[in-house]
Amino acid sequence: MRHATTARRRRNGTWLRIAAAVVVGLSLLLLSSGRAADGASGAAACVPAQPKTCTLRQLADQLGIRIGATITSSRLADAAYADLLAKEFNAATPDNELKWYSVQPAPGDWRFTGGDLDLTFGTDHQMAIKGHNLIWAQDRYTPSWVRDLSASDLRDAVAEHIATVVGRYAGRIPRWDVVNEPLKDFGTGPSDSVFHRKLSKRWITKVFELAHQADPDAELWLNEYGTDWVPGKFDALLALVKRLQAQGAPIDGVGLEMHRPLASGPDVGQLVQQMRSIAKLGLKVGLTELDVPIKPGDASGPAAQAKAYGRMVGACLQVSRCREVTMWGIDDGHSWLDNLGIFPTPTRPLLFDEQLAPKPAYNAVRACLARAVLVAQKAKGPLPACAGA
Ligand code: XIL
Repeated sequence: MRHATTARRRRNGTWLRIAAAVVVGLSLLLLSSGRAADGASGAAACVPAQPKTCTLRQLADQLGIRIGATITSSRLADAAYADLLAKEFNAATPDNELKWYSVQPAPGDWRFTGGDLDLTFGTDHQMAIKGHNLIWAQDRYTPSWVRDLSASDLRDAVAEHIATVVGRYAGRIPRWDVVNEPLKDFGTGPSDSVFHRKLSKRWITKVFELAHQADPDAELWLNEYGTDWVPGKFDALLALVKRLQAQGAPIDGVGLEMHRPLASGPDVGQLVQQMRSIAKLGLKVGLTELDVPIKPGDASGPAAQAKAYGRMVGACLQVSRCREVTMWGIDDGHSWLDNLGIFPTPTRPLLFDEQLAPKPAYNAVRACLARAVLVAQKAKGPLPACAGA
């Protein structure tokens, strides 16, 4: 008898424990699905039919694409900047911290503090960090000590640089821009870089192989600008990519920077075609460095700029292999274009103004993402307009 009662008690105890486990499990499940819908920021619920309720990040998370911006380690102590970055973006590209001139400004003088800070921030906020860039094929951005090396010393320095930088972040930085801007600024031939002049004709393939050896799991990208407005430049890029593939280069993706000279363009049909021709080579594609300067005092500038952003984001969303749109900065108070000496300043090229308030360009990007979420959900009813697309 005593035995039976104890057994029953034990059984009841077991059921209680199972019930408690189920309740705890269900609550965790509900909590985590709620978090997923709201993005890692833990913000309020996002209803894509009302884009104002959503951040860019919440929408991009639902689409499974990367929406990114540059990350600048020296600004991370500024809470307003850091909060906005993590709230609105699920991906980030270090602005300068991982470039050769930052990482090894003089022979053997390795500096990883900035890159490490960016990576820690990205990890803490579940943001994908892209390594940018290993080799920038523009002499003006290559340290002078590298430019002055003999051919064989240059070969060794390139190998050491890639092994050290990619090796350090192996398994932590999943994507790299391996070669940046291999074509002439305003032409279709190779850019006039020390790498082109002193290394073998197959130097780009070699560099991709070195990156692959240093981290076999990393995605390796080629990145170029002006392909949408320099005549013939896109075709030259495509031909280069085909040559690299024929040489067996382990290339995974092509980034089109999309710095716009004006708040006009690009032609959406042409951009979609270009991205599809990259996708046809079995590669991923992304729009990697968006900014759209406007003329100081031009009252119609912000609206035209919003449309240009809408065209670019809308074009990416039409191409299934385009999984990334990254802005080259966050706010108009901090854009590299203001220091370039080409555009009248202030250029105000970004999604947020100097006070970090969202601009019409932000609303356009958000509307495009919200529309894509609703289209993917086959939602009924009016869709938000993707301005300009
Ligand atoms: C720019 C940075 O934003 C500036 O701070 C720096 O002085 C120069 O480089 N194409 C690229 C980016 O691939 O790395 C460049 O970034 C902008 C053009």
